[in-house]
Amino acid sequence: MKICKTIDEMRATSRAARHSGKRLGLVPTMGALHDGHLSLMRAAKSKCDAVAASIFINPLQFGPTEDLAKYPRTFDHDVQMLEKESVDILFAPTPVEMYTPGAVTYVTVEGLSDKLCGKSRPGHFRGVATVVAKLFHIVEPDVAFFGQKDAAQATIIRRMVRDLNLPIEIAVCPIVREPDGLAMSSRNVYLSPQDRKSATVLNRSLIEVKQRFDQGERNPTALIKAAKKILAQEPTVRLDYFEIVDPSTLDPAPKLTGPALVAVAAVVGTTRLIDNILLQP
Ligand code: PAJ
Repeated sequence: MKICKTIDEMRATSRAARHSGKRLGLVPTMGALHDGHLSLMRAAKSKCDAVAASIFINPLQFGPTEDLAKYPRTFDHDVQMLEKESVDILFAPTPVEMYTPGAVTYVTVEGLSDKLCGKSRPGHFRGVATVVAKLFHIVEPDVAFFGQKDAAQATIIRRMVRDLNLPIEIAVCPIVREPDGLAMSSRNVYLSPQDRKSATVLNRSLIEVKQRFDQGERNPTALIKAAKKILAQEPTVRLDYFEIVDPSTLDPAPKLTGPALVAVAAVVGTTRLIDNILLQP
């Protein structure tokens, strides 16, 4: 695997891949890789001739009181895992390499960036859209792979690509879960053993909604009420939001006639976790 630490090196490497006629896939990550990330690498391997992963803990998407300093950093282990997956290229720039001092240009996907996690994490999605736009310009992939785990992020990236006419296909891959249903996340390592058990309530609340939906319940208020009852069984889990929204606008879905995204965010101990499920009528 070729490791590129500078933008110039990365550009030269991806240009060479594309000039030799290869379809290039990109999997952007912040490292601390787990099976969820690896599922994206595998999807990219199956759809592309060459795969580039990026590892960059993007300071711009962390709020001032968030976990930027303590975000898990496991670079050497990540490299081993990527090599095992036969990833071809790794882009791992430093913050100064990515953000020229004095940079003041941002990408804001208006009307979406302030929904779901955007409400309690102001500036978060602006940071995500800006870094992903930069990665797209540096790597110039044919296809970029994202996880359904971060559903709002996927919606925002799709809209950015559409609005800015970027010639990149966006592939969104299913959520990979632990055997007990907890969605895999780099942040799960923060959970104490007790919190780790309580954290499964997020997925349990989504399953409750899915079951009621499959039995014919179409009233979002009733579904949300049922989910909150499940969440209340774990008093140490502090709910941020539980919403049922249109997956393309992220606005609350008043009637469940089309596909709907059921999304939950909660703080477990000191760790903010998210999860979601799609409902198809
Ligand atoms: P990160 O949290 O490292 O996630 C990288 C990619 O892996 C994202 O597309 C995310 O949705 C996906 N992913 C994470 N957990 C997953 C799981 N359990 N199942 C399937 N996919 C999963 O998301 C980011 O980084 C950043 O915001 C980034 C896009 C890299 C921009 O900085």
